[in-house]
Amino acid sequence: MDKINIGTKAYVYPMPVSIVGATVGGKPNFLAVAWLNMVNFNPPIVMLSLGGRKYTVEGIEEHKTFSVNFPAIDLMEKTDYCGLVSGRKADKSQLFEVFYGELKTAPMVKECPLSLECKLHSTHSMPSNTLYFGEIVGAYTDERYLTGGKPDMGKMNLFVLTMPDSNYWALDKQLDKAWKVGLKLK
Ligand SMILES: Cc1cc2nc3c(=O)[nH]c(=O)nc-3n(C[C@H](O)[C@H](O)[C@H](O)COP(=O)(O)O)c2cc1C
Repeated sequence: MDKINIGTKAYVYPMPVSIVGATVGGKPNFLAVAWLNMVNFNPPIVMLSLGGRKYTVEGIEEHKTFSVNFPAIDLMEKTDYCGLVSGRKADKSQLFEVFYGELKTAPMVKECPLSLECKLHSTHSMPSNTLYFGEIVGAYTDERYLTGGKPDMGKMNLFVLTMPDSNYWALDKQLDKAWKVGLKLK
């Protein structure tokens, strides 16, 4: 076998970078989240995995709402800052222009190309992390990020994260069509 076993410190590769928002102490607070995925089709449910006792969790648990915002590369520094500094130590409420949807307590980031408004569905404790499942009740973008009425990644300039090397990567090349390119092999 030519494969090298690099141990267990390998992660899902690469990971999305998001800014999760909640209302804490009457103000918006944001943290960076990369351990995030879709976990249910109908209703659409996303799952965040949070370790330790994040300040944002206080707002998620109080209001049972949160937002998931996907930042473009121009927000990389602010996103990283949200992941470096806790709202317990610094006020992150003024970092972004905030808007609200129907839930009123899930602050979304206006500068982000795509924002999901979520209602807490359930939580699940893991050995070191807690999973927060959120039902998506609204998704917001700007006209300039749409093609044929659908969000277009090629227009959004999003970025992804790799761990354990802790690098951000651009994500700007569309390759082929999913559910189509493999048809050749059928
Ligand atoms: C790129 C990036 C991704 C992160 N992803 C996660 C994550 O998925 N889960 C988590 O618990 N913390 C994650 N963090 C760490 C939190 O964002 C960080 O602890 C944050 O300061 C918590 O803020 P709060 O205490 O104001 O909620 C990440 C940090 C960075 C920089």
